[in-house]
Amino acid sequence: MKPYYENALTTLYLADCRDQLVDLPSASVDLLLTDPPYGMAYEGKGQRAAIRADASRQGMRVLRQALTAAGPSLAADAHALVFCHWASWPDFADTVSAHLKLKGALVWWKNRGGVGDCTGSYAPDYEVVLHAVGAKRRPLLGKRLGAVLAGFAPVPPPKRAHPTEKPVSLLRLLIERSCPAGGLVLDPFAGSGSALVAAQQLGRRAVGVELEERYCEAAARRLEQALREGQPRVA
Ligand SMILES: C[S@@+](CC[C@H](N)C(=O)[O-])C[C@H]1O[C@@H](n2cnc3c(N)ncnc32)[C@H](O)[C@@H]1O
Repeated sequence: MKPYYENALTTLYLADCRDQLVDLPSASVDLLLTDPPYGMAYEGKGQRAAIRADASRQGMRVLRQALTAAGPSLAADAHALVFCHWASWPDFADTVSAHLKLKGALVWWKNRGGVGDCTGSYAPDYEVVLHAVGAKRRPLLGKRLGAVLAGFAPVPPPKRAHPTEKPVSLLRLLIERSCPAGGLVLDPFAGSGSALVAAQQLGRRAVGVELEERYCEAAARRLEQALREGQPRVA
């Protein structure tokens, strides 16, 4: 399939990842970094419109099928980092551990409220990121960190290109530690391309797949802007 967008480091497909991933070269991916539909039936208005495949149970099924399609393209020493919501993370953990060995869960502490029962529940001010690895051990890069990642502010709503956009700075930290220099990052649920932008800024190669054209458009725009803002570091 012809890419929707391509530059020297990054390739983005407008496609269903369950079809597109089967074409990736075998054992080529060093890091699967993704933020799949959470299975929380996310609904929003206008730009914060509903997320495709986000109905309860549907998110899980899509993730399971995406991991099955991506399986042969993962290197034996690949790492995987999968964002999830506290309510669906046990199911996500089961799904991921059918393919890879779970090493633990990181917590992205957003230091910020969130909606819901404001007087009857604790603020949902964090997201969970599952960390899993392939059969062949490859250590994390850099000094050892704790599992709670703080200091990465969520993208403010008016600045978001996607309703569940993740901060590029957080994704850069994750890529720097789990993808070697010259390695390949795969994001099967690319949204507005935050993981692709982070990989590009670090000089890593990246492949993304996104089902909705409006988000592919946003990702292509962001990748071009990142190219204009600075030459990628060769790593
Ligand atoms: C949680 S969002 C990712 C947001 C992204 N992290 C960002 O920062 O913009 C998940 C994305 O997966 C896409 N998606 C859902 N099912 C898909 C599928 N089968 N193949 C590819 N993309 C899919 C949705 O359209 C949505 O944009």
